[in-house]
Amino acid sequence: MSEFSSQWLAMREPADHRSTNPALREQLNAVLTVSRTNATHPLRIIDLGSGTGSNLRGLAPHLDGDQHWTLIDYDPKLLEAARLALKAWADTTESNTDTALHLKKAGKRIQVDFLCTDLSKNIETILEQPADLLTAAAFFDLVAEPWLERFCSALCTPFYTVLTYDGTEQWMPKHPADEEALRAFHAHQATDKGFGLAAGPRAVDIMQRRLLDYGFQVSIAPSPWELDQTHDAKLIHALATGSAQAVGETGLLDAATLASWKTARQEAQACTIGHWDLLATFGS
Ligand SMILES: C[S@@+](CC[C@H](N)C(=O)[O-])C[C@H]1O[C@@H](n2cnc3c(N)ncnc32)[C@H](O)[C@@H]1O
Repeated sequence: MSEFSSQWLAMREPADHRSTNPALREQLNAVLTVSRTNATHPLRIIDLGSGTGSNLRGLAPHLDGDQHWTLIDYDPKLLEAARLALKAWADTTESNTDTALHLKKAGKRIQVDFLCTDLSKNIETILEQPADLLTAAAFFDLVAEPWLERFCSALCTPFYTVLTYDGTEQWMPKHPADEEALRAFHAHQATDKGFGLAAGPRAVDIMQRRLLDYGFQVSIAPSPWELDQTHDAKLIHALATGSAQAVGETGLLDAATLASWKTARQEAQACTIGHWDLLATFGS
């Protein structure tokens, strides 16, 4: 099981929220407005690999009306952290039971259910659940190509996923080991993250092609992290530390080069990390 700490997810949340592509999110809103013209129930949204609920906090304010979210993750500690973070984020908590949290935020009622399950095993069952939107953030680069095939073939709901890593990175200042280290990082990205060998930076391209094959209309838009020392020093340091650990695990860089590269990256003035957002809707 690949573990993500709630501290890391909290640190990246502001960068994630400001990087998500606003034009694609508007396109999503337009699609939902049309599809829900006569709807009487709250907007039902399933969030895959929800972690501590960052995607809900980023997206819910941009969606119209009352909402019913189901947060799915296989890490019970992250789901518990999500409950606490969402209570802190909401204007008021109307009720908080074992199964659901009822919140109010900016005049909207938001029900949040929590489901602890392993998505590598039962994605088809999840995709059978009634929903108006399936979403995810920073999740799809973890999955494997055969799993993506299962996912795309079973998908029958509008789908919006943000912040999938595309493998491009520019760091300032440059370091002589940048290219070698990025190659090693990509090799680590392609290892098994619980779904089989991970698609990593190829995930958006694979999803796009398979969803088009299944008759979806697909739009993609860039959502790069643009980080600098003034605003994101802690995130840059943590990102560099995590990347160096991953590169170290591949054994592809010698220890001295890795140490020098790690220090340079931790102190980098700025970096751009490529991500893409993707929206898939039924064709017409
Ligand atoms: C990079 S984190 C992103 C979390 C969250 N979406 C966000 O944007 O902060 C990936 C998430 O996927 C979850 N995850 C990874 N493999 C999973 C699996 N097999 N089943 C369910 N959740 C999984 C992790 O526990 C983690 O919360």
